[in-house]
Amino acid sequence: MRRVRYEVNGGPEVLFVEDVTAPQPGPGELLIDVAAVGVTLPMVRKVREGSEPVALGGEVAGTVTALGEGVTEFAVGERVTGLCFGHGYAEQAVLRPAMTSRIPAHAGFVDAIALVRSGMVARGAYAAGRPEPGESVLVTAAASAIGTLVLQFAKAGGARRVVAAVSSAEKADFVREAGADEVVVYGDESWGEPVDVIVDGVGGELLGPAVRALSAGGRLVAFSSGGGTIEAYDLLVGGKSAIGFQMAVLARNKPALYARWLDELWELHAAGKLRTTVAATLPLEAAAEAHALIEARRNLGKVVLVTGQA
Ligand SMILES: NC(=O)c1ccc[n+]([C@@H]2O[C@H](COP(=O)([O-])OP(=O)(O)OC[C@H]3O[C@@H](n4cnc5c(N)ncnc54)[C@H](OP(=O)(O)O)[C@@H]3O)[C@@H](O)[C@H]2O)c1
Repeated sequence: MRRVRYEVNGGPEVLFVEDVTAPQPGPGELLIDVAAVGVTLPMVRKVREGSEPVALGGEVAGTVTALGEGVTEFAVGERVTGLCFGHGYAEQAVLRPAMTSRIPAHAGFVDAIALVRSGMVARGAYAAGRPEPGESVLVTAAASAIGTLVLQFAKAGGARRVVAAVSSAEKADFVREAGADEVVVYGDESWGEPVDVIVDGVGGELLGPAVRALSAGGRLVAFSSGGGTIEAYDLLVGGKSAIGFQMAVLARNKPALYARWLDELWELHAAGKLRTTVAATLPLEAAAEAHALIEARRNLGKVVLVTGQA
């Protein structure tokens, strides 16, 4: 089978395709024929900035072809999506049942990649800000796969004002289409009227202006892989809060809530109430192009690799 790998950390050019023997599922694992793979900023960062090469894992979707010893949750032939901890940029991948779920009949593999992980992070990060109907919400990286979904949750949740924050004014039309009432660019002198909740997918140097943009009592949800520092004094003044959110913690600590939210995601999707946007669908061989697209911050929505096995 074909898979994408790299041997030295660096830019997208370090990625290459190789032919290798297909993996076998161990006890408690399942094997899938991969149809679609999600390309995400955290993985792009690991390739560029990591201290050593890692397997290009992450979100994959495909058809179950074999079950390891003891796996009873899934059957061969079922269409599933899940988080892969080994090699995921590949024609076949190994998953664990706990982080795998079925794809409903109405949806395709690319839909699953655009919806499930991004949608769960969007739902969880939005809820972590404890938004009340009638409050205002600002979303950074608003044109990203997760950001476009947070905009929709905020709108559907009755936010009085939904503000999209993006790195370039070129993304304005796209985020308005996704539900934003106002658009600000990070470098703008002011981000407008202070907001009650900020859902931040950027971090780093953006945390300062983000905390300043909060109203008194406002909450900032930090869920990005961008790091950064918040001064306690800046929170104290105005009685503001910073809240961390990580989907893996939610999945591990609150499995029943995770399962309910996952069902709700698919119901909203089936009813046309939650729209995913796919920025690019590229073949596995074009993984470097997919990484370059995200590094250049040009993606509007989800970047997906496909193997041709859909
Ligand atoms: N907490 C969790 O459980 C969890 C899980 C998955 C992902 N995440 C985080 O969620 C954030 C958004 O992920 P995603 O999958 O929605 O992103 P994505 O679709 O891959 O898009 C990445 C977007 O992030 C923005 N961005 C911010 N800093 C960037 C940088 N240094 N380089 C390139 N792009 C940058 C860009 O939009 P602008 O140029 O408009 O800023 C870009 O379009 C990421 O920070 C990711 O680490 C968190």
